[in-house]
Amino acid sequence: MPVYCDHAATSGARADVVRQAVRWYFDECNAAVGRGAYRAARLLQQKLTTGRQAGARLLGLTEPQRLVWTTSATDGLNQALKGLLRQGDHVVTSTWEHNSVLRPLRWLEHSRGITVTRLTPNARGQIDLDDLRRALRPETRLVAMQHASNVIGVLEPIDDLGSVVRNHGAWFLVDAAQTAGLLPVNFDASPIDVWVTSGHKALGGPLGTGLMAVSSRAAEVMEPLRHGGTGSLSEDDEQPRMLPDRFEAGNLNAPGLVGLAAALVDRLQTGTTAVWQHEQQRLEQLWAGLESIAGVTLFGPAPQVVPRTAVVSLHLQGYAPDEVAALLDEHFDIAVRSGFHCAPGCHRSLGTLAQGGTVRISLGPETTSSDVDTVLAAVRQLSQPVG
Ligand SMILES: Cc1ncc(COP(=O)(O)O)c(C=O)c1O
Repeated sequence: MPVYCDHAATSGARADVVRQAVRWYFDECNAAVGRGAYRAARLLQQKLTTGRQAGARLLGLTEPQRLVWTTSATDGLNQALKGLLRQGDHVVTSTWEHNSVLRPLRWLEHSRGITVTRLTPNARGQIDLDDLRRALRPETRLVAMQHASNVIGVLEPIDDLGSVVRNHGAWFLVDAAQTAGLLPVNFDASPIDVWVTSGHKALGGPLGTGLMAVSSRAAEVMEPLRHGGTGSLSEDDEQPRMLPDRFEAGNLNAPGLVGLAAALVDRLQTGTTAVWQHEQQRLEQLWAGLESIAGVTLFGPAPQVVPRTAVVSLHLQGYAPDEVAALLDEHFDIAVRSGFHCAPGCHRSLGTLAQGGTVRISLGPETTSSDVDTVLAAVRQLSQPVG
């Protein structure tokens, strides 16, 4: 088995409960979600209802129907942005967002005449509250921010940013793709209107799954991206207004979602603290080890200075990022990611855009101390001159 260090892209080995749930679907169920009254369909529905309820409790939503199944974080972000923004609206976001925010916003600028202010994070990698206050205008309708950078892991002060946005009366959209399942969320008590994540990263669900939590006030006005069959109110050709059906048109990814449902039940039982603490210990070990290797440049503030997820971006002197990733894979069986990680603006700030981005090492719940030692030994070996 390779040493898997690409958890920021997608989860490593899925938990037994998730694999069993997906296997159950193919071996014993095979029904469509919300489309039948026979036994297998009822059982599937039950599992997804239990999963949605567990997700709602995990995220602090009083009404589980405000938690919508999506196919990915990208799907939820498109739904929120295109469903809330209208001609002439102004949006504030950061230059460090993932392309799943940047690209829909570019498209909305071209096609719907919205205007966008893009703030660049400060030297700590965080958005300045005063910068945000200055950027808000009377016509600002939405602020979109990631909870953590997928390049350097730094956490944004989401609650503080959200309070400023709420006071201004705009919607606050949070891309939690890099933090869902790692940090506690109390959605209904927070200033967040739409909270979006992948199901397949730290939550540990299968690929092709995601979640969107929506506040009651945003749900009132958000238009669906897709219209179509929901298995409910089928005698009517109008899209149902009720949640979550309004945003769940078309057959859902049943095998993926039973896996995500099992992952949510599991995470609700175990909590987020143990996973976060485990990853933080491994991060500190990795950071300290990398700092001691000559020729390694680490990007962003140290974890002791600014809180960050277990995502580390680096350069190794004498190599392009792609070469490092290829050598780690070929000679050491270590899986890391190289390149831009779909966040070009972050690389512009780090000065890594013209250099092929960075090597990204991202750790997960199953990363052991000996895995980190293996990574450190490999990087140390590569850093030494040949011959
Ligand atoms: C911060 C951030 N937002 C959005 C995404 C897109 O996630 P998905 O692949 O689920 O669409 C990612 C994926 O890496 C991400 O890191």
